[in-house]
This record gives sequence, C-alpha cells and structure tokens, in this order.
Amino acid sequence: MKTIAIIPAAGIGKRIDSGVPKQFLKINGKEIIAYTLSVFQKNKLIDEIVVPAQREYFDLLNDIKRKYGFTKLVKIIEGGEERQDSVFAALKNSGAENTDFIAVHDAARPLLSQELLTKAIFEARKHNCIVTAIKARDTLIVGNDNVTDYLDRNKIYYAQTPQIFQYGILMEAMIKAEAGNFKGTDESMLVNKYSGKVKIVEGETINFKITTKPDLELFRQIISSSG
Ligand code: C5P
Repeated sequence: MKTIAIIPAAGIGKRIDSGVPKQFLKINGKEIIAYTLSVFQKNKLIDEIVVPAQREYFDLLNDIKRKYGFTKLVKIIEGGEERQDSVFAALKNSGAENTDFIAVHDAARPLLSQELLTKAIFEARKHNCIVTAIKARDTLIVGNDNVTDYLDRNKIYYAQTPQIFQYGILMEAMIKAEAGNFKGTDESMLVNKYSGKVKIVEGETINFKITTKPDLELFRQIISSSG
C-alpha cells in the first residue's frame, strides 16, 4: 500500500496578481511550492509526489526538483481548467491502485507541519477518507451588507488540506462528479456527495492557504522570524 501526494499547482493566482502564480513566488530565496514539497519529501509515510501544473511551469518545477533534491516528485503533469480538473488529471496519471492512499494538498499551503501530515495519514488509514479542518471560533454571520442571520458555530468547520482518501473511493467520486457535471471546491465535497463518509481531523491555524497579498506578507514574516 502506497501513499501518494498530489500537490495541485496549476492555478494562476488571480487574487495576488504577482506576474507568476503565487506558488512559484520566491520568499527568502525559496519558491512557496518548494516549502510545501519539502514537507512531503521529508515525511517517511509519503512514497511519491505528483504535481499538476501549467505546461509553461514544467521547466521551473524540474529545476526546483533538482535544486532541492525532491526525489519523491516522480510526475509533473498538465493541470486542468479548475482545481478539480487538475487533481483528476493527476489521479489518472498516478499509477495508484484501489487500496493506495491519495493525499491532496494545496501548493499554496506551505506551513503544513510534519505532525499534522503524519496524524492525517494515520487517521486516513483508520477511516479511509479524511479532511483536515478547523472548527469555527468566531460568531458566524449570514448577510449581504446587513446581518440577516447567524449560524451555529458548533457545526461549522473551515476545510483545509491535506485531504486523504483511498484511491478507489476518490476515483469513484471524481468519475461521478464528471458524469454529473458537478464542480466542487475540494475533494472532500466530491467524496461526501458521491462515494463515502469523510472523517474530520482537526487541522492547524498555521496551515493557512496563501490566497491574498496580506496572506503572502504573513508567510514572509513567519519565515523571516523562524530562520
Ligand atoms: O485558487 P486556489 O487558491 O483555491 O487554489 C488551490 C490550489 O489548487 C492551488 O495550489 C492552485 O495552484 C491549485 N489549482 C490547480 N488547478 C487549477 C486551479 C487551482 O491545480 N486550475
């Protein structure tokens, strides 16, 4: 049984508007995706890494692979129009078998800890499908300019990655989603809808996704102060 990481990196990072997609920006001399790949390279439970990306970034990714010695990065493949298409393309090219595990993790979440990754993999082995998520802490407002309602925060989580699934279960969900023309914002949504139960594993606040310029600045500050 293998555990294969899929790190989708085919996004264009519209919300940061930096020339290159955010995952390829250099912070303290190192590309954001290289921080992310290091976590997976170092974890003994991860066997292989597959990265879907836009074709124009293949050379850069191969340079990154060589420069940092990412020996587990076995495949760089062409991503799709949306994140779901990129992950589906990577899945089809992964060479995985039904009982292998697929750990999907955003390229733009570089602060994933080894502890959380290891815990998530062990939980996946127990439950087949898991999503890391943070329990809502703030009061949750529904509204559009004005407040219209409040949600019960005890029932709300913010989904993160990694999200880890048995290959066969994730593949079934992806195939059914394609047939039904359904686009989800992450893999847990597809599995929950089409093929199985997804267990929630408590994530970490530090494992945030770099989405906006302030997120990027926060990451820069964390990296600068830690090293
Ligand atoms: O855009 P967003 O931040 O939600 O993207 C999450 C992850 O999915 C990023 O790592 C991004 O590169 C990836 N992605 C992808 N293919 C797309 C769109 C996003 O691999 N078409």
